[in-house]
Amino acid sequence: MKEEFSVRKSLIGILAWAALGAASSASATEGKSIAAAQSIPYPAVIAHRGASYDAPESTAPAYLLARELGADYLELDLQRTRDGVLVVVHDDELSRTSDVAERFPERKTSPVSAFTLAELKSLDAGSWFNEAYPQRARASFSKLSILTLDEVIDIAEGNPERRPGLYIETKVPNQFPGIERELKARLEARGWLDKPGRVVLQTFDRNSLALLHEVMPQIPKILLLWVGTKAIMPASGQDFAGSGERDKAAFYARQQPKDQAEFLRWLDIAKQGGAIGTGPSAKRSKLGEQSYADLIQPWMNQASHERGLLVHVYTLDEPEDFDVAMKAGVDGIFTNRAGALLRFYHRPAESESGLLTKLGY
Ligand code: G3P
Ligand code: CA
Repeated sequence: MKEEFSVRKSLIGILAWAALGAASSASATEGKSIAAAQSIPYPAVIAHRGASYDAPESTAPAYLLARELGADYLELDLQRTRDGVLVVVHDDELSRTSDVAERFPERKTSPVSAFTLAELKSLDAGSWFNEAYPQRARASFSKLSILTLDEVIDIAEGNPERRPGLYIETKVPNQFPGIERELKARLEARGWLDKPGRVVLQTFDRNSLALLHEVMPQIPKILLLWVGTKAIMPASGQDFAGSGERDKAAFYARQQPKDQAEFLRWLDIAKQGGAIGTGPSAKRSKLGEQSYADLIQPWMNQASHERGLLVHVYTLDEPEDFDVAMKAGVDGIFTNRAGALLRFYHRPAESESGLLTKLGY
């Protein structure tokens, strides 16, 4: 009797496993066909702020290296200078990634929009990296400059044998009224709007998604997903800032959507806003600075695919995390280590260090 029970239990286990495997492979097929319909590579390698593990984020060597490695997309965060130029900076202000505190002490915590292009160009956007990551430091990284959107486009176009697309986020878009239209004008002027799948637009902001969709209806858009009281409502009802916690990654590792309906509601928001996919956060196995709530559970990815939405997860750097994400059914990964992700997908990628040297850094 005991044996019969055990055989039955094993059979149930095998059937459940097979059903899960079949569901996840059906989900992957759906993801693949959504990507193909948009001319988006599958699975996509999205170089987050360039190859930003090996070079200072959002600078020339980071984007040149990502291009030469063979990334599908150069990811960038778009902001605007006081004199109206579109520039590529992640943080709202400049103190983490530049010497603004020494150059402009009275404005060291001012937003990017408080600086002219000439002022931004006078900053050193590379030395911080050498100090933070001495094992990856290079003398040539000191005095790197902040880039304009046009300069990143120049890099993307700079090698006819390597043609990465651009994956552009409107950052803090409420600070930059009209930025969606200005982005369209620059992309159009540079001839990037008639290349299917070469540009993907992304934002956390529903209003910016609507504006992007209004001005560039044919360009694929991704709504970035996040657990927080101003986004997907957390079960805890708390934001990190109000939680009194010190460890951001540990806090986010415990966060989850209020319930299933709340997550599905955000998929509907994405779909209705004109997005062709979502960019959910993920929890990293090693936690750390870019580890957030786990929004790539298999049921979440399956629900996205059932609604015709692609899933590009941010931001993973470790092969074990790539593996978990792919098995959970995502269609592409934002990564600071484009080379590691390419190798994980069995795509060729030269050594980062050798390429940086060849590039003159
Ligand atoms: O754009 C996807 C990912 O980059 C979102 O996070 O804060 O790095 O821009 P963040
Ligand atoms: Ca971004």
